[in-house]
Amino acid sequence: MFKTKITEMFGVKYPIICGAMMWLSIPSLCGAISKAGGMGNLTAGNYETEDEFRAAINEVRNITDNPFIVGITILPSLRITPEHHAMYVKVCTEEKVAGVEISGAPLDKGIGMDAIEAFKKAGVKMFHKVGAVRHAVHAQKVGYDGVYAAGIEEGGHPLNDDVTTMVLTPRIVDSVDIPVVSVGGIADGRSVAAALTLGAEGVMMASRFISTVECPCHDNIKNELIKRQEFDTTMFGHSIGLQGRALKSKVIDEVIAIEESGGTLEDLIPLLSGLRIKEAWETGDVEYAPLMVGQSIGLINEIVTIQELLDTMAKETVETLDAAKKKVS
Ligand SMILES: Cc1cc2nc3c(=O)[nH]c(=O)nc-3n(C[C@H](O)[C@H](O)[C@H](O)COP(=O)(O)O)c2cc1C
Repeated sequence: MFKTKITEMFGVKYPIICGAMMWLSIPSLCGAISKAGGMGNLTAGNYETEDEFRAAINEVRNITDNPFIVGITILPSLRITPEHHAMYVKVCTEEKVAGVEISGAPLDKGIGMDAIEAFKKAGVKMFHKVGAVRHAVHAQKVGYDGVYAAGIEEGGHPLNDDVTTMVLTPRIVDSVDIPVVSVGGIADGRSVAAALTLGAEGVMMASRFISTVECPCHDNIKNELIKRQEFDTTMFGHSIGLQGRALKSKVIDEVIAIEESGGTLEDLIPLLSGLRIKEAWETGDVEYAPLMVGQSIGLINEIVTIQELLDTMAKETVETLDAAKKKVS
């Protein structure tokens, strides 16, 4: 039985939240996670029209009445424009989703204070994914309800401050009064226990959800993550001002070689395009496009159902905390 500010805020069984995953965090996965007692993520960038986005929200609601969050990424993109961001805010407030995970620019700077007011009025809880104390403090100041403290271990785009989850979590816990959720390096009950011990009210993870029965990607990739270890991811993208962490692969070697030889964003776009990544998830070709997974893949050992994963993690969290308690008196 978990009782944290996250389980209380959302009325969920487990304080385990799925992070935004472009192409993967769609209704089937989102609904399965929320149904199993965690918090699923519906990643808004998967939808370009209001009708598609609203239909996806309804699809999750047909799977479960339990709450889920919507992931809205506010980063420069060729496909997703400021008009899309405004549409996501409109639909999330009208549909009164439980919460939003914002990444990239904070709402006040990326969309405007109106968005914050609209979410507040609709009762939608706002969390920002941050990699630094200063960004957490800013989120609190402009009215966010919580922050996700994302360390350099995470998949996706960790902040280039390069601070680990182990240090970032307590630093942010000490710096704000709103709930803090740990992100990066989380994939089992031991890492949940560690996060709670560091003062977090819950965890967010993404890569671990890929090697589950319900994840909508090719089995090759689910199995590849079991084979790969914690040292099998690498950083790229420094030269274009947006670092990323992805699975080591031929394509990432090519990206890094282009960056080292002074290549431009235009040279990189064909290798990094969203549609190329979508194709790789579908065909299972891990060498074809950057798969943005975190160091947590070193902790993935088997493909399980979402329900098995969350129940096992919860049990292991309790066992870990009990075992730790026995080591001190
Ligand atoms: C396949 C994949 C796609 C992701 N896409 C996004 C995204 O669109 N927006 C975002 O803010 N974060 C994205 N992330 C980052 C996750 O939301 C999360 O912060 C991170 O993966 C946590 O680290 P972990 O994967 O080791 O658990 C993605 C992560 C993965 C694994």
